[in-house]
Amino acid sequence: MFRIPKRASIFNHLPLFSVTAALLMAFMALSCNEERDERAPAQLLVLPVMEAAAVDEGTRFEPTMLGLAPGATNSEMRFNWYGAKRVSKAWVRLFRNGGLVSVTAGTSGVVLPRTTNTCTDYDCRNDSLSWHKASVTGLSPATAYEYSVSNDSVNWSHRYEFKTPAAGPFSFAFVTDPQITRGNQDCSSWGGGYCSTPNTAAQGWLEVVGKIAARNIPLIVSGGDQVDHYGTTSNLTADEGEYERFFAPAPLRSIPFAPVMGNHDVHDQFAYHFNPPNLPRYSCSYPVRQDVCYDMSTQNAHSYYYLYNNVLFIALNSGNYVQESAAAGRVKAMDDLIKKAKTEHSGQYDWIIVHHHRSTHCQGSQMTDPTTGYLVAAGLNKIMVQNGVHLVLSGHDHTYSRSHVITVADTTAPGKIDLSATSAAATAPTTGSSAGKINMSAAGERTVTLDTAGTLFIGGTSASGGKYYPLGYSSDANANYPFFRDGTKGAAANTNHGKPTWAANVYEQRRSPEYIIFDVDRSSIRMRAFKVNDDASPADEVTIVKKGGGNTSILRDLRGF
Ligand SMILES: [Fe+2]
Ligand SMILES: [Fe+2]
Repeated sequence: MFRIPKRASIFNHLPLFSVTAALLMAFMALSCNEERDERAPAQLLVLPVMEAAAVDEGTRFEPTMLGLAPGATNSEMRFNWYGAKRVSKAWVRLFRNGGLVSVTAGTSGVVLPRTTNTCTDYDCRNDSLSWHKASVTGLSPATAYEYSVSNDSVNWSHRYEFKTPAAGPFSFAFVTDPQITRGNQDCSSWGGGYCSTPNTAAQGWLEVVGKIAARNIPLIVSGGDQVDHYGTTSNLTADEGEYERFFAPAPLRSIPFAPVMGNHDVHDQFAYHFNPPNLPRYSCSYPVRQDVCYDMSTQNAHSYYYLYNNVLFIALNSGNYVQESAAAGRVKAMDDLIKKAKTEHSGQYDWIIVHHHRSTHCQGSQMTDPTTGYLVAAGLNKIMVQNGVHLVLSGHDHTYSRSHVITVADTTAPGKIDLSATSAAATAPTTGSSAGKINMSAAGERTVTLDTAGTLFIGGTSASGGKYYPLGYSSDANANYPFFRDGTKGAAANTNHGKPTWAANVYEQRRSPEYIIFDVDRSSIRMRAFKVNDDASPADEVTIVKKGGGNTSILRDLRGF
């Protein structure tokens, strides 16, 4: 039904003849769209810039769990939030230099606190919570913007700020496994560790995001397990209180966050709460929920990609559980997506960085993870090397880990990538296992010149302070995974709990919430890993240098220099 919003019309404040007929018609069309199809593309009003003071903001709207996601390119920013009532709209206003430059309609729907897959009737839903998503496009580089959101185009939120990056060198942060709970950190178990005050996962996460924001980092990239609630295909609901704590840090209103699905995120709320670009669409049985519909068991859902300055980021879903028989299909889907992203952005990037949940080179509790083993055996790491991926960032193990640069995809053993082409292949660990640190770099790799493109794998520990798993001890009696450097495989071969896995280089359980900063330019990427409670200097640091204009790379390990 057509209606003119009582208080929202910004045109009320414009001189009558300053509004073109076309703009007025477009606005009327938006106003008529109260019951529009949720699948309809976002609509945009580009407005003559008007003074902020002239914009009617109605009664202050208080969105909950408001966050940002990076756009498909730097010219886009994406927004997601929750509302408390069942409404069918999502709107975002964009301001620059105090003037309103656009009003964009997005999509929204009702959050389903359901426990089965059988609820297909819109009216059978609980309407206490609603999800809202929108995006703005046409952004200029190196520009400060303000935005506000609304569920009804009448009453608007506080104006928050974000900045688009300038072309050229930039930094981003990697975090993983904040795995937010309603409870405490695990700093008194698993060997102890740094305790925040108060000693909660939420507080640890606040501190990590605060440290990232203090460094003026414009992008946060995730390795998954954003919250702790453990989803299954028969119980697809999560604890919204965990998401409230996840979105609590104020910088998340200004810094885009790029999630990936971890095994703890396998629930519908993951789809409701995040709004990344380029999500593949699949047919599904919930026609009015296309934006959140996915098949967790068989498809590569929630994988996506985005171009940020000179980096092509590809976010893959390795979080949900995969049986051995399905692993090849999943890896092929990932390979297809990487190739699609490369083709779409051919010539537009210098680096390819993949982030996904399950570390394939980790040395802690998850080193024998069955799903990881199936995916690696099906070629998960091989496709990284073959596609020229420079960095793979992951989590799941709650330990810090850095691999050698891997260069040769050897198919002589399923899932194994031969290390013979790297100079440090035969290096033995220099320290023991359960002491909390395995560092092979001192005797091995400081400078490695590679003959072909190489891939460096980095795993992060918890970004909130949860589950500081010890090194060397695996949780699954997996007979076939991991692959060790001495050619053996399986948990039983790890007799001294310190046997290095296939790509072992530096592993450490520092028992502190951590974040990793990457400084990117055209020819190098510097990585620095920081403990949240002791970050005057990095706990580990390495620089990848791209030699010349080709794919040949050098890894320079700065430890000890
Ligand atoms: Fe985790
Ligand atoms: Fe995990």
